[in-house]
Amino acid sequence: MEVRMPSFSRRSFLHLSAAASAAAAFRVMTEPMLAAAARRQPHAADAVLIDSNENPLGPSQAARDAMAAILPQGGRYSDNLTDDLASAFAQLEGLNPDYVRVTVGSTPPLGLAVLAFTSPQRSYVAADPVFELGGNLASKVGVRVVGVPLTKTYAHDVKAMLAAAPDAGVFYICNPNNPTGTLTPHEDIEYLAANKPKDSIVLVDEAYIHFCDAPSTLDLVKAGKDVVVLRTFSKVYGMAGLRCGLLIARPDLSDKVLDRGGWNFMPITAVAAATASLKDPQLVPERRRINAGVRQRTFDWLDRNSYAYIPSESNCFMLQTNRPGKDVRDAMAKENVLIGRTWPVMPTYVRITVGTGNEMERFQAAFHKVMKASAG
Ligand SMILES: Cc1ncc(COP(=O)(O)O)c(C=O)c1O
Repeated sequence: MEVRMPSFSRRSFLHLSAAASAAAAFRVMTEPMLAAAARRQPHAADAVLIDSNENPLGPSQAARDAMAAILPQGGRYSDNLTDDLASAFAQLEGLNPDYVRVTVGSTPPLGLAVLAFTSPQRSYVAADPVFELGGNLASKVGVRVVGVPLTKTYAHDVKAMLAAAPDAGVFYICNPNNPTGTLTPHEDIEYLAANKPKDSIVLVDEAYIHFCDAPSTLDLVKAGKDVVVLRTFSKVYGMAGLRCGLLIARPDLSDKVLDRGGWNFMPITAVAAATASLKDPQLVPERRRINAGVRQRTFDWLDRNSYAYIPSESNCFMLQTNRPGKDVRDAMAKENVLIGRTWPVMPTYVRITVGTGNEMERFQAAFHKVMKASAG
């Protein structure tokens, strides 16, 4: 589904970064663009923003300190700092540093992986609903996009994905899934990697992996499989506006992905913040605990008020509205609470990002009001 953007948002978005310009050149709809298209503009400064799966906590203190300390060096490219980040991640995960490439968020490698491994003859296979970026890009460049329903437990149905596309070039697995926040068992991803057609890849998007206990798929990368893992510092690390991500794969696969996009220097603020974040052992467990606590209190409230939702292991979940989700989103915006979009396959659900405790209380009050008003 093509989402139209307000023209002023498009203009300001294009000025954000080189990555955004590249995305625009490829006509990729990125998460901020999709969210902006769904967002009522302009919104009040105190609006609750739970529409884009951002982290309301922002960068950690260590990350902020690292950025402040690196600022005077901003006149230098300092690509050695990027190498340091790749090495720090490789060491943490027991990977060969050659397997780790640093990127401007995970949006560029996602799009580039689609361009590198799909074609009019090699289809793009994903779940439905799922994060739309890869599918939108694939269809724009004439690639067949195969959307496969999630299972009853909202996992990717890997056997159905395999059966649906013997011509696949990319199997996109989002784990935990955006928008449902649900998990796909590791053995299913392993099965997919073992049974996929030759020369295709399994592209595992682990943007939200830190919010849950599920095992990563990095072990399959280490084992030399045709598996490409994407990580981002936008979510648990609270660095969406700073732009840093990782592409982790066998070097021949990474080369094929990145050859398409040319090479670029990283912003050293983002790199310094990312390295400091990785070196802080408390950051992920603490933020996982905070997110899980607020999420559980939100679910308890929804249960007490008999609102239906899909239980999630991530920082977002799908909420049943029993009427067109878009109408509820518009009504919530009038209450100064900006919630996430709907997916065509689930038109009576909206995606809600887990914000702070206070933000979720404001969400609850507004949702109650909107649902009561439309029921009466
Ligand atoms: C599943 C998933 N992948 C990738 C991205 C892209 O994020 P970024 O480019 O900020 O790393 C997002 C953004 O929300 C996402 O939800």
